[in-house]
Amino acid sequence: MENKYLHQVFEEDFLIGAAVTPWLLKQRGEFIATQFNSLTAENEMKFESLQPQRGVYQFEVADKMVEFAQNNHMKMRGHTLVWHNQTPGWVFSNANGSSVSRDELLATMKEHIQNVVTRYKGKIYCWDVANEVIDDREGFFRESKWHTIIGDDFVQKAFEFAHEYDPEAQLFYNDYNAVIPEKRERICRLLKQLIASGTPIHGMGIQGHWNIYGPSEDDIKRAIECYADLGLKVQMTELDLSVYAFENKESKLLAPTKEMLTLQAERYESIFKIFKSYKDVITGITFWGVADDYTWLDNFPVRKRKNWPFLFDENYKPKESFQRVMAIK
Ligand code: GLA
Repeated sequence: MENKYLHQVFEEDFLIGAAVTPWLLKQRGEFIATQFNSLTAENEMKFESLQPQRGVYQFEVADKMVEFAQNNHMKMRGHTLVWHNQTPGWVFSNANGSSVSRDELLATMKEHIQNVVTRYKGKIYCWDVANEVIDDREGFFRESKWHTIIGDDFVQKAFEFAHEYDPEAQLFYNDYNAVIPEKRERICRLLKQLIASGTPIHGMGIQGHWNIYGPSEDDIKRAIECYADLGLKVQMTELDLSVYAFENKESKLLAPTKEMLTLQAERYESIFKIFKSYKDVITGITFWGVADDYTWLDNFPVRKRKNWPFLFDENYKPKESFQRVMAIK
């Protein structure tokens, strides 16, 4: 049988996922369920979405997304439990504006993780427990309220709580620039410390917000190997290939050039070849979106600039990138 759908081509290798919104599921549910076999909620499981006020949980939207995954026999990744962004202010401050104590913040963390992880136990197979805690440039931990209030063990605690409430779930650390050598080294240091202290951690999520020029194949391979050498599974959790280099501020283009599409196709082919060659350690590749009609890159790093980072175009038609990925043997 000829493979028609993306996930079928990699059936023996790893899951193929997409980050989606409720709107996308409503508009394009059938397309998503046929091309992909794993789902991530783009925003709906972040702290501010699930517990906007202390003790007030909003699960309806996330529940529907989990239900969609189940009805369509898709796996679901949970994203994300502890992050410095999209976390409401009440988590860190008392009503009078003063900072909460270490014990209070740990109690909030534990209760949130207990409620969220328990609710989706057996339905979400893997969680991004901690997201982006390593600094980009220097030092080690990113300066965040989680870190300043709790201290260095906040990451370990998050993993321990998640494991306590779902011992079967695969627990991931997730970060961007995770294949850039300097940051990769710092992330590895964190992972080693976690493993040495007996923390229940099972995987490393490389976000993969890349572009058609970089990072280099060597950096990608080296990073996968470094993380895998620690005994962790590796996933690409937020893959997209911007058609612009990060510094490029061009904003007038209304359609991708032929050159961009060709470069993108070549790069998609080469990175998927790499992923496939590491199929023993890679368990999932998730795109941070579905098709070029909707991507966070339309507003980042330049506001209101169209980008075309995926395998499917704005009309959900396969691009050359898709054909090249599908042809990989
Ligand atoms: C990070 C986060 C994601 C998402 C993207 C941008 O990578 O992990 O949840 O917010 O930024 O959309």
